[in-house]
Amino acid sequence: MGRTLIALDRDAPEPLYQQLRKALEHAIASGALNPQLPLPSSRELSRELGISRNTVNTAYQELIAEGFVEPRPRSGLVVNPEMLSHLSYETGEQTSPDVIDWPSRVRPWPDTRIPEIAKVSDWHRYPYPFVAGQVEVESFPRLAWARALREALEPPHLHYSLRDGIDEDDPYLVDALCREVLPTRGIEAEPDQVLITLGSQQGLDLLASSLLREGDTVGVEDPGYLDARHIFSRAGALLAPFGIDGAGLVPPARLDGVSLLHLTPSHHSPTNVTLSIGRRKQLLAQARQSDTLLIEDDYDSEFRYQGSPTPALKALPGSDRVIYLGTFSKFLAPGLRLGYLVAAPELIRELRNQRRYRVRHASGHVQRAMSLLIDSGQYHRTVRRRRTQLQRKWHALRDALNELLPWRVDPPPGGVSIWVTGPSELDCVELARAALARGVVIERGDIYFTERDAHRNHFRLGFAAIPLESIRPGVQQLAAVVHQVLHR
Ligand SMILES: Cc1ncc(COP(=O)(O)O)c(C=O)c1O
Repeated sequence: MGRTLIALDRDAPEPLYQQLRKALEHAIASGALNPQLPLPSSRELSRELGISRNTVNTAYQELIAEGFVEPRPRSGLVVNPEMLSHLSYETGEQTSPDVIDWPSRVRPWPDTRIPEIAKVSDWHRYPYPFVAGQVEVESFPRLAWARALREALEPPHLHYSLRDGIDEDDPYLVDALCREVLPTRGIEAEPDQVLITLGSQQGLDLLASSLLREGDTVGVEDPGYLDARHIFSRAGALLAPFGIDGAGLVPPARLDGVSLLHLTPSHHSPTNVTLSIGRRKQLLAQARQSDTLLIEDDYDSEFRYQGSPTPALKALPGSDRVIYLGTFSKFLAPGLRLGYLVAAPELIRELRNQRRYRVRHASGHVQRAMSLLIDSGQYHRTVRRRRTQLQRKWHALRDALNELLPWRVDPPPGGVSIWVTGPSELDCVELARAALARGVVIERGDIYFTERDAHRNHFRLGFAAIPLESIRPGVQQLAAVVHQVLHR
């Protein structure tokens, strides 16, 4: 037996015989000790390891008592074959590889044909990241957030930061939303109408699993938010696409048979147009006639750069069947995973129960810190500062596009991205690929349409994450790529 198999530490508090017994057990279990050969005699091993024969004999006695080895006449000690068969998975000798057919075990999902939003994962390393859905880390109120997190660990907040809330939310955050945040959208809500979510995404998922039955129809915007389509489709729904024009979603003649309608009235995703007041009223009336529930996804409502933000659909009279989704992803950061949902108390109770068996609730610490941030006034200061920064960026991007691209871009004055429609011969996939090679990250636009191939001349430029000073040089690079792609 090679000495290297057994390392004994004379200075350790554990007696040497025990160290030796464990080392031999491990050698047997791992297959390092050839089971066909007898163990060395106690004389041999004691000489080899420089320890007394007594120590070796004591270790051997224990191995015999445990059944690891057994004495055989004329051979000495051999590994117990029964023990070996138990250990065969560890010795790895006679086992064939255990092949598991994962594709047949994993539940099939019905949304495989819906494209996924594919982001360039290391976008922050590119000089011109016109990515959507991300924020510039420098504009995050780091110190105020760190202060809020620290304060949330002091009594009387500590209890709420650390407790298992089972199905409850932090009452302080719910109260802060009702008092300070929802009224800015024109929404009056009582605490029992509010649920805290892990972002709008979780709100959509909870709604889909609570309100949809297999084969139900869900109305979606076309082009529209892809993640919502995935979520509804995974819940077994059929999707009914509704077109978009300059006044937002084009209401169909009737909404009959549509159980849920997902819409982004403040700034349509991805084009940023605002749903007109006439259409809002029309949709509310139609929804009532057809017993359709409306999901208002108000993900970036405050970012309006000319005039004031339109109040939420949920703020209009007769909006009881509107379920409102808000998020901190755009105003603060998507990585916080925090949002909220406003609906009738009966529905909130049901969603709370659903959420309990999925994630219980959002982190108590993050909820309490957010309440403190709102209460200190820092949240509103951050929203105002961010709106001013984004307004500058929106102007810079719009102006650079109109100056440098060979066609006009006339974006609605809101949101965190600009939707660009190029000439029909422009191919956004080719453009995005060629732009990336020059350090410009843009998003192809075709995937947001149900008829993708007919819409390959659109792309999206997010401007929340890119620094202001990089916008113009970024558009210069992009314009050169556009020229190259169009004149190939
Ligand atoms: C239409 C729409 N809704 C909601 C969200 C935000 O989702 P969450 O709050 O889960 O981060 C986004 C972000 O990209 C979005 O585009």
